[in-house]
Amino acid sequence: MDKLFIEGGKSLNGSVKISGAKNAALPLMAATLLAPGKHVLRNVPDLRDTRTLLKVMEELGATSERNGDVLTIDATHVNNYEASYELVRTMRASVLVLGPLVARLGRARVSRPGGCAIGDRPINLHVMGLEQLGATCIQESGYVDVKVDGRLTGNTIHFDLPSVTGTENLLMAAVLASGTTILKNAAKEPEIGNLVDMLLGMGAKIEGRDTDELIIHGVEELSPADCAIIPDRIEAGTYLIAIAATGGAGTVTNCIPEHLPALLNKLRATGLIIDEDENSISVSYPEGKGVADLQCIDIQTMPYPGYATDLQAQFMALMSLATGSAVIDETIFENRFMHVAELERMNAIIKIKGSTAVVTGKGEDGLVGAPVMATDLRASSSLVIAGLAATGKTEIRRIYHLERGYEKLVDKLTGLGAKVWKESS
Ligand code: UD1
Repeated sequence: MDKLFIEGGKSLNGSVKISGAKNAALPLMAATLLAPGKHVLRNVPDLRDTRTLLKVMEELGATSERNGDVLTIDATHVNNYEASYELVRTMRASVLVLGPLVARLGRARVSRPGGCAIGDRPINLHVMGLEQLGATCIQESGYVDVKVDGRLTGNTIHFDLPSVTGTENLLMAAVLASGTTILKNAAKEPEIGNLVDMLLGMGAKIEGRDTDELIIHGVEELSPADCAIIPDRIEAGTYLIAIAATGGAGTVTNCIPEHLPALLNKLRATGLIIDEDENSISVSYPEGKGVADLQCIDIQTMPYPGYATDLQAQFMALMSLATGSAVIDETIFENRFMHVAELERMNAIIKIKGSTAVVTGKGEDGLVGAPVMATDLRASSSLVIAGLAATGKTEIRRIYHLERGYEKLVDKLTGLGAKVWKESS
């Protein structure tokens, strides 16, 4: 199993190019199942998660070819409707094939994903929505079996809470339904806007892009897509925080600054200088200041455009290095503080009460490198940030979590001046 080693205490400087968004690539890849023919997706990150979804899609009968960051998916011969536990258990987002399969084949049998390190992660909203579109859903032996005779039928669906992949699944199901579907209290993450753009390009009729009410007028068939994946806002945010945590100055390029409103405000509030350009964001310190001079700032995770839960752990690492105390409220997932015990091994001072963590910044004392364990994707990136900023050596185990969502992590960090390497054991 691979380990990641970091010799900490070196400031990161320079620029880093952001890859396509994992959380946009996955639904867009699943959406190719909606129409026979060859689809072209551009700016697709090469990650463990995108490779896992390709395996799921191969099981379903699709074929694919990658050329650099261009992925061609041929969905002509999609004829199998079952996504097996073996693959779905390794990546929860495999559930994204549910909506497109029912819409195209009238049937989908997809393994329930099960829980994961950050909580229970139910799919009740996906299932409820498909039932409201006229499908019969039977849950047995760990699978959800969804069937419809003919086409799904449009309906008005109200989400109790704005689920991201739930919205994407129902959007993909509704584009081929008969009649009009209205998704109320839908999620508004930019990745959903990316999916809407792809579906519009395929001939779908959708109103309300980027709002919490999506109106979908079903069409009988769609044509193959040619669409680019948006830049990964979570990767961009992670590098901005990493540069700041090491006292450096740098720029993330090929990103969309408007996709990170909450993070950029919070970083400014700590005392950092943030400059936004059309496709890049720079972070730096006022003259003579360093990470120990940053002020601890509270955050509360919220659905977009609020502060992203996927950037909570990374911000906590930064707050551990600042001065004062920060209250971090996690409102999206019930168990998303797995990184806390690991950060404590590096001398961070954090107290958890329910869904709130209170961080006491170490200021001048800083963090110290230690052997730590990656537990989930974003928790792992907070350990990388802490390791980069800490004095001494940090060894991170179970880095397959990181490989799920960060393309060329070692190369990108090395390009910024970090001393980081992988070793197999
Ligand atoms: C997506 C992202 C993930 C991010 C999360 C929240 C992808 C592939 N993953 O995950 O990186 O952390 O959004 O921004 O895009 N819920 C239910 N019932 C459901 C579905 C969700 O109760 O059927 C709850 C969840 O437990 C959670 C909340 O809704 O408390 C939001 O989850 P959701 O937006 O669905 O997250 P994902 O789409 O799984």
